[in-house]
Amino acid sequence: MIEIAIDGTAGSGKGTLGKNLSIKYGYPHLDTGLMFRTVAYSLLSIKKNDLKNLESLSCEFAKSLSFIAINEKKLRSEETGFMASKIAVFPKLRNILKLKQIEFSNINKKKYGGCILDGRDIGTVILPNADFKFFITASIEIRAKRRLLEKNISCLQEQNVECMLQSIIKDISRRDKVDKSRLISPLVPAKDAFIIDTSMIDPNELMSIVVKVIEGRN
Ligand code: DC
Repeated sequence: MIEIAIDGTAGSGKGTLGKNLSIKYGYPHLDTGLMFRTVAYSLLSIKKNDLKNLESLSCEFAKSLSFIAINEKKLRSEETGFMASKIAVFPKLRNILKLKQIEFSNINKKKYGGCILDGRDIGTVILPNADFKFFITASIEIRAKRRLLEKNISCLQEQNVECMLQSIIKDISRRDKVDKSRLISPLVPAKDAFIIDTSMIDPNELMSIVVKVIEGRN
């Protein structure tokens, strides 16, 4: 039974890699960032005054989280991403989500022979014995440009596009900093991870590098 662990920074291409590997090998893929984002989205939907005890509220939302209820589209804003990063420092919350991630892994290894998880601490904490570990990153400028391309910016003037790019760079840097510096489960490559920089390569090239590693042709 195969476990594939993918970690990396925001906009590095780790999510697309997870999806592509899932299509190729038929192992279900879990984007664990979406779990943190779903909890963050629920928190942002309640009244600001009620947000005093973020830790216990986030744990309550996390306990009732089901994979079926995860709706990718509405969770992708940077505001939700930053709230996800902010609550991701809570040990109790991480533990609740960790149990759900391990459950996903066990069910799908039995059912499909393998699983693919992507996030920040998959190779270090969630699946420390994974068969394959990848750590994906890219320069901040490239990652911000990718995020910009995901938005509909065709109607904007050049000056506004540049302004938007700078704002995305700021948001991603802020989130990277929180993710890398937290005390529990910080974003660091596992010792035995293949580290791949995608600044100069596209998703297909990344996929072929990873497939070569998995199929022992590296
Ligand atoms: O992968 P993403 O950008 O959708 O993740 C959003 C935030 O969730 C990320 O900035 C930190 C947190 N996260 C985490 O702490 N651990 C994970 N395994 C996945 C995400």
